[in-house]
Amino acid sequence: MSQIIALTNQKGGVGKTTSAVNLAASLAALDRRVLLVDLDPQGHASMGSGIDKHELDKSVLDVLLGDATATDTIMRDLPVKYDVLPGNGDLTAAEVELLDLDKRESCLTTALGSVAGKYDVVLIDCPPSLNMLTVNALTAADSVLIPLQCEFYALEGLSALLDTVEQIKQSINPDLAIAGILRTMYDKRTSLTREVDKQLRDFFGDALIKTTIPRNVKVAEAPSHGIPVTQYARFSRGSQAYRVLAKEMIRRLSL
Ligand SMILES: Nc1ncnc2c1ncn2[C@@H]1O[C@H](COP(=O)(O)OP(=O)(O)OP(=O)(O)O)[C@@H](O)[C@H]1O
Ligand SMILES: [Mg+2]
Repeated sequence: MSQIIALTNQKGGVGKTTSAVNLAASLAALDRRVLLVDLDPQGHASMGSGIDKHELDKSVLDVLLGDATATDTIMRDLPVKYDVLPGNGDLTAAEVELLDLDKRESCLTTALGSVAGKYDVVLIDCPPSLNMLTVNALTAADSVLIPLQCEFYALEGLSALLDTVEQIKQSINPDLAIAGILRTMYDKRTSLTREVDKQLRDFFGDALIKTTIPRNVKVAEAPSHGIPVTQYARFSRGSQAYRVLAKEMIRRLSL
């Protein structure tokens, strides 16, 4: 059975895309069949996987609108070891275009229905907002992985996100679970980090993922080469952390 995991946090720049790309690569390196869905108009997950977002014949938007199948739109011959359902700026129109559709929350669920079985894991990279695209991701997902930075404002938007998860659970996706809280760009030396750590542990308990991702320049450089850091600089601290994360996620979720 495939598991669908949405990487979500409406706060921008917390490491959603970086974690989606590198977790996809690390799970694939451990022989899991992985699909990465780029549900962000910024198209960064596509670009970070070696896809030119300006040259797409069709994108995940066409699939959401029922104008193309996921099978025909998924890109397989990439410089990475996982497949990608690509996205780009066309998704900016999704909010309006989806409005006209019946069951507009479930478009992604329907779209993935025919392909999810071909993969062990489907990772969805969400945009930095709680919009209809994110609602589609949370409706299609089995669980939510929440990347965050251990900074003073880290916890601020979290209650709005958890409220949204709760609403989706109560309305359309009762089994939606929290896959974990992932600390990114982590620097354990600062006292602020230790303080936020304590709050996260108290609030989330076991949902707090043990592996942390350090701030590492190789992680930031890799996307400009269109490959994950696990390929770009496989012995870097960032790369090693994402490999350890993949193993922890395999244990936690029985992937
Ligand atoms: N561990 C890390 N070390 C150094 N830089 C990082 C690390 N993780 C992410 N970054 C950098 O931080 C920036 C934001 O990361 P990323 O794009 O993954 O966040 P995001 O949550 O997907 O952002 P958005 O909300 O805009 O989609 C990027 O420039 C990325 O290269
Ligand atoms: Mg992103």
